Amino acid sequence: MLRIFLFGATGNLSMKKLIPAFYQLLEKRQLPENVEIICIGRREFTRTSFQDFVIDRIGGERDVKKWFTFIKRLEYHQLRFDAPNDYKRLLEKIAIHEVDVHLFYLATDPRFFTIITRYLSEFGLLEYSNINQRIVFEKPFGKDLESATEINEVLSTYLVEDQIYRMDHYLGKEMIQNIMMLRFSNMIYEASWNHAYIDHVQITVTESVGVLERAGYYDQSGAIRDMIQSHLLQMLTLVAMTPKKYPDEETVISGKTEVLKALSIADAKTDVVIGQYVAAKGMQSYRDEKGVPPDSCTETFAALKVKVDLPRWEGVDFYLKTGKRLSGKISEIAIIYKETGKNLIPDCPTNVLVIEIYPKEGMRLTFNMKKPGTTQEIVTREMEFCQSCLVDYSAPEAYEILIHEVIMGKHDLYTRWDEVKYEWTFVEKMLHECGTLGDKLQFYPAGSRGPELADALLERDGRSWYSL
Ligand SMILES: NC(=O)c1ccc[n+]([C@@H]2O[C@H](COP(=O)([O-])OP(=O)(O)OC[C@H]3O[C@@H](n4cnc5c(N)ncnc54)[C@H](OP(=O)(O)O)[C@@H]3O)[C@@H](O)[C@H]2O)c1
Repeated sequence: MLRIFLFGATGNLSMKKLIPAFYQLLEKRQLPENVEIICIGRREFTRTSFQDFVIDRIGGERDVKKWFTFIKRLEYHQLRFDAPNDYKRLLEKIAIHEVDVHLFYLATDPRFFTIITRYLSEFGLLEYSNINQRIVFEKPFGKDLESATEINEVLSTYLVEDQIYRMDHYLGKEMIQNIMMLRFSNMIYEASWNHAYIDHVQITVTESVGVLERAGYYDQSGAIRDMIQSHLLQMLTLVAMTPKKYPDEETVISGKTEVLKALSIADAKTDVVIGQYVAAKGMQSYRDEKGVPPDSCTETFAALKVKVDLPRWEGVDFYLKTGKRLSGKISEIAIIYKETGKNLIPDCPTNVLVIEIYPKEGMRLTFNMKKPGTTQEIVTREMEFCQSCLVDYSAPEAYEILIHEVIMGKHDLYTRWDEVKYEWTFVEKMLHECGTLGDKLQFYPAGSRGPELADALLERDGRSWYSL
């Protein structure tokens, strides 16, 4: 039997992603039929008023009968994270019977990670080194290196690493998982996956929306801590790593860590561009968003040029770009190959392999051919495979995959402590080298491509952004 405790069950993430993911997993029989889901929130709800709240908050098209049957199974327990008596009541409430796996999902601010873990342990709900008692810690794991290290040190007194699951939901996305499959199951790619053939790499994750209802969190974080530190660095590691053996959980994660340790920025003054959106096209400026201080210097955009100091990537630039209120929502990785050598046809457009994560899931590859007819003119063509366009294609949501992984006790789509540590180390060093961020802030119109300096970052190297 499986028992799930969802901390932060009344919050945005639980409503948007987690409760729907539990439903889907049950529908697909990837959760045992007798699973218990105990939703934990601070607000005063009875079991039924919480169920009504969920029905009210979660929209979407579903089989109504099945959805209502699912909702009826949700338990509710009111608990303040820092109130020991509330844990005692939780312990008294849960039925004492054999449970194979306990899953604690902490969809909460990271400042609560240690107190919740401590009380769960002290009240006997969590036992050191029992790997059937697992905790998922939502992103972000800390707000900087110091807080992440502190959290990790405290957790390690209550848990072994195998009980800890640090979430980065991008790792559950279908095409991000596919990066390794693409590389390690195709000789054509892996043989040329190095500095001899690849000129540079661009990783782009942009959004057209603003901060929505998450201003309180976002203004303390900004694009670098919210997106670069986790999602974009994870994407980079999957492109750049060299595992000793594939697939093997331990060596894959070690290969990723090796990349994170090797990251550097040649000159933070010129190779880091940050921006903040201002009012345009009927959209308000970041500083006018509800919950944002009117003098906020938080960056809503970041573009960087990064080096990976490993022999495979000598001289190859990795450009990362992310931001809010840009002209579109897109997630792509573009691998830009080198120009043809001097013994081949000169001045051809270079090959580009694009791994598409959003809005489509698939890949495109450009290549050159002879224009039909009597000339020797070159035309560039594109091969495209769109997985998400296939009839009957329905990939599970990233959260479904990741929750299923924890239930199976698998860590390969979760981040290990040393990965998180080196992500924060890189980000902090970069921020330190940048100096006062407010001085670097470039303002860009909402709905645009971002600050002009971000284009200049590539133009300086004779390149341009491939996506958006
Ligand atoms: N929302 C997203 O799209 C998203 C995406 C990725 C990661 N995350 C991460 O997931 C975590 C949760 O995000 P969220 O957007 O869901 O936040 P949220 O909407 O603010 O929800 C916070 C939850 O924590 C509970 N809570 C707060 N303080 C509490 C306390 N002292 N005692 C007991 N319960 C307390 C709230 O309970 P009440 O509502 O009952 O007060 C609520 O259930 C954050 O770390 C966030 O960074 C969120």
